[in-house]
Amino acid sequence: MPAFSATAPGKIILFGEHAVVYGRPAIAVPVTQVKARAIVTANPRGQPGQVDIHAPDVGLNAGLADLPKDHPLATAVYLAAERLQVRRIPACSLKVTSTIPLAAGLGSGAAVTVAILRAFSAFLGNPLPDEQVSELAFEVEKLHHGTPSGIDNNVVTYARPVYYVRGEPMQVITITRPFTIVIGDTGIPSPTARAVSDVRQAWEGNRDHHEALFDSAGAIADSARQAIESGNVELLGPLMDANHGLLVKMGVSCPELEHLVKAARTAGAFGAKLSGAGRGGNMIALVTPEIANKVANALQNAGAVNVLTTQVGG
Ligand code: PMV
Repeated sequence: MPAFSATAPGKIILFGEHAVVYGRPAIAVPVTQVKARAIVTANPRGQPGQVDIHAPDVGLNAGLADLPKDHPLATAVYLAAERLQVRRIPACSLKVTSTIPLAAGLGSGAAVTVAILRAFSAFLGNPLPDEQVSELAFEVEKLHHGTPSGIDNNVVTYARPVYYVRGEPMQVITITRPFTIVIGDTGIPSPTARAVSDVRQAWEGNRDHHEALFDSAGAIADSARQAIESGNVELLGPLMDANHGLLVKMGVSCPELEHLVKAARTAGAFGAKLSGAGRGGNMIALVTPEIANKVANALQNAGAVNVLTTQVGG
């Protein structure tokens, strides 16, 4: 039986989360050690339209027709079929697996969607190009958290470091000198929609104050892009610390993130910040390969439930 398989990586936001929702630039990079995979296999004994979905990581075993229309997995399937103008989907099974921690700011939702769009469109005989995959994944991101900026679907689809401004085509960043990031997971689910809506409420309460915070975060993202492209990666540490300070002022940190950020800095990281929506999820720290293990151990000792080391570029 021919099977159509596709993957998509995880991601971290290096600079500019939340401010990116308000039009400021942000930088995100793929994390290729973790990935989502979708496999579509034809079912010659099934009825047209019968799509069996297995997603063991989330305990889902259901027919497409039994899922609510706005279920993110179902929506990805419907969007692929609709885009390819396929009215009757040939009977098949769709298996979705992922090693990306869920609800941790590592882009698991976007990666699962992108993998499904790719595998399913290939199964339907017409693999969608990246541009359309990213565009459709953005539609599914809206189900996950209302008003997404679009950064997750872009970085996950293209699997390249991206500089992103909402509503504009993403720009790929050239990594002149690779650098190493340690990622520490608080283990607390990171509720993107809630954090985004709390920031909006705070912004509505004091627009001038929040606009100034977003401006500063945007300026940091621009400086970081320059540092990355010119190979001055040591400049990124202080920029990460400064960006974290702004995120604290936006109200999206929490005691557990503060604890991990402090532990990373104490262990010698050149800078550290929360990454993604905040209030839980992951933090990231800039290290050299030589001190990566020391910082990773410090994070584990400080209570991180999962620690990953990733090289950006190279
Ligand atoms: O879903 P997360 O945790 O990667 O956070 C998304 C980043 C935000 O800037 C908070 C929201 C967005 O849509 O860009």
